[in-house]
Amino acid sequence: MTPQPGILAPIPPHARYLTFALKPGARPHPQLEALAAAADGDACVVGLGALLLFAMQKEIGVLRPFPHYRGEGFEVPSTPAALWCWVRGEDRGEILLRARTIEKMLAPSLETTGAVDAFKYGRGLDLTGYEDGTENPKGKKAVAAAMVDDRRAGFGGASFVAVQQWVHDLDRFASLPRKAQDDAIGRRRSDNKELAGAPASAHVKRTAQESFAPEAFVLRRSMPWADAARAGLMFVAFGRSLDAFDAQLKRMAGADDGTVDALFTFTRPVTGANFWCPPLRGRRLDLRAIGL
Ligand code: HEM
Repeated sequence: MTPQPGILAPIPPHARYLTFALKPGARPHPQLEALAAAADGDACVVGLGALLLFAMQKEIGVLRPFPHYRGEGFEVPSTPAALWCWVRGEDRGEILLRARTIEKMLAPSLETTGAVDAFKYGRGLDLTGYEDGTENPKGKKAVAAAMVDDRRAGFGGASFVAVQQWVHDLDRFASLPRKAQDDAIGRRRSDNKELAGAPASAHVKRTAQESFAPEAFVLRRSMPWADAARAGLMFVAFGRSLDAFDAQLKRMAGADDGTVDALFTFTRPVTGANFWCPPLRGRRLDLRAIGL
């Protein structure tokens, strides 16, 4: 029962997120076998989408589509993908070249639909300057939150991941008074203390993991990203199922009580997809759960 080690490790200094679509009529088995041997779960964390499994006539029980929400002035899109690779490391050049190798290897049946460069900012900050990941479970609790506990070969040690690219309006955020900024997050940027009197729309009030029934813990491994024109957060949450993430997102979108997360005043998601991250066997991905 070995998880992909990159899931439990702290975020790396640099990364590139790749998403892939299936080419029409493709039979992706050989490319998936090749990827299983090449990806070590550390320098490259891999997630398989329901679209890919469906094309292979396979199913992983609790993998379901990413939800879609629309409300007053905001939208949470659902943009399924066949495959997700989180290429991680210290050296941008190496990451780019490794990503190219993976893309070439998969090219007979999968085409790249997204490539996003991400990085660690400071001690692990969002581009708004707030620390991200403070309330992540640690040690055994991180394993319990993020990893599937199942004795069946190829199932235990797997993980589910929800991935969302958010685009920040950094000018809008900068134009808000400091109190409104702190109230949107629910923490004080200066010392990261939780605000006792934060409004119900504060992000950490919407998502407080212990406030759900059952408790909704996830292991967040988000990273800031940027291209020439835009910047934001690549939100990444691993879970032993998708239940905890779904419950948090539902409440952020106001679907529980009508209160929408204040994050939507300065940032918006442009993608949203779920994947199943297989465990490792030796130094390769263990695909026995889908018969490979
Ligand atoms: C642009 C998007 C987002 C930004 C900038 C952001 C930022 C933050 C920050 C600054 C914190 C406080 C520190 C911490 O505990 O990490 C936080 C907490 C948290 N966020 Fe987000 N977040 C974003 C999206 C999301 C989404 C989409 C979800 C889940 C649906 C989520 C779930 C959580 C959870 C579970 C916590 C910890 C709550 C607690 O138990 O105290 N976040 N986020």
